[in-house]
Amino acid sequence: MNKNFKDLVFSGVQPTGNLHLGNYLGAIKNFVELQKKTDCIYSIVDLHAITVFQDPKELKNSIFETLSSFIACGLDFKKSIIFNQSSVSGHAELAWIFNCVSRLGWLNRMTQFKEKAGSNKENASVGLYVYPNLMAADILLYKATHVPVGDDQKQHLELCRDIANKFNNDFNKSNFFPIPEPLIQKKFSRVMSLRDGKKKMSKSEESDYSRINLQDSEDQIEKKIKKAKTDSSLITSDKKDLEKRPEALNLLNIYSSITNTSLEKTLKEMEGKDFSKFKKNLSDVLIATICPIGKKIKELNKDKSLLLNILRNGAEKAKIIADKNLKEIKEIVGFI
Ligand code: TRP
Repeated sequence: MNKNFKDLVFSGVQPTGNLHLGNYLGAIKNFVELQKKTDCIYSIVDLHAITVFQDPKELKNSIFETLSSFIACGLDFKKSIIFNQSSVSGHAELAWIFNCVSRLGWLNRMTQFKEKAGSNKENASVGLYVYPNLMAADILLYKATHVPVGDDQKQHLELCRDIANKFNNDFNKSNFFPIPEPLIQKKFSRVMSLRDGKKKMSKSEESDYSRINLQDSEDQIEKKIKKAKTDSSLITSDKKDLEKRPEALNLLNIYSSITNTSLEKTLKEMEGKDFSKFKKNLSDVLIATICPIGKKIKELNKDKSLLLNILRNGAEKAKIIADKNLKEIKEIVGFI
């Protein structure tokens, strides 16, 4: 469908401090793989972040920490474009144009807004409501063709496709914007809480024992895995059985993902073992992968001028593409 366009991956991540294993295995590790095959643009989406109030100091720190985590996990700022969204003004400009293309009825269907606004919709920011239009602008400002997304963003990407189509139709430019395709991780993309296998691993869960943070020490990782909820049955290779044991399945999935093996292979390897043995294996592989990343994050975080430089360079590269596309877009819309 997008054969007129060069393959280009775009993804955005909200700035947050203290990234965890779920952020790594669910998103960043995949970004690192993608940059080996395709041109990629990764944006730390600070404009999205302020749809709910952010303490300015914390926001700044979160942007730095997200960048440090990206680099420590293996994103290459020389190869891919890495920048913070607010430093390229085209995002906000195109978002306005899309506010006028997108329909109220479309936004009213967005389930994430309903969840995030909760029962007090009247008090939600207008930005939170039109956030999917901004996300469409992020992607289409670069005419990106592929977007790695988790389950929770699929509906927003659908909306982006609707906006691209409507713009192309309204202005009679049938191939102006590509219709971006989702890239869904084939392996598992959801790391669950270590305390409750039905809940996503999250920074907002109260207990720190529910997650592995990228900056955890060896001791912390070992303790958290030891305490992780499981059951007293042995590991079986029967996937149906495991589906009824979400905590067990989660740990086996984490092991597979960290060691780059399929779940089937892990199950064969671990079949018949009890969880205390498996947990030792799991904390060993986690420590070997996560602790070097954590150390690197801490190091990078100390060098703010390096981080600022990376963001500035990234923004400059992003701007070249954005400015060219935005000029065409303005022309199409009829601006002088
Ligand atoms: N909305 C995404 C999230 O909350 C972040 C995001 C913003 C994004 N712009 C994007 C993701 C463009 C993919 C493409 O996770």
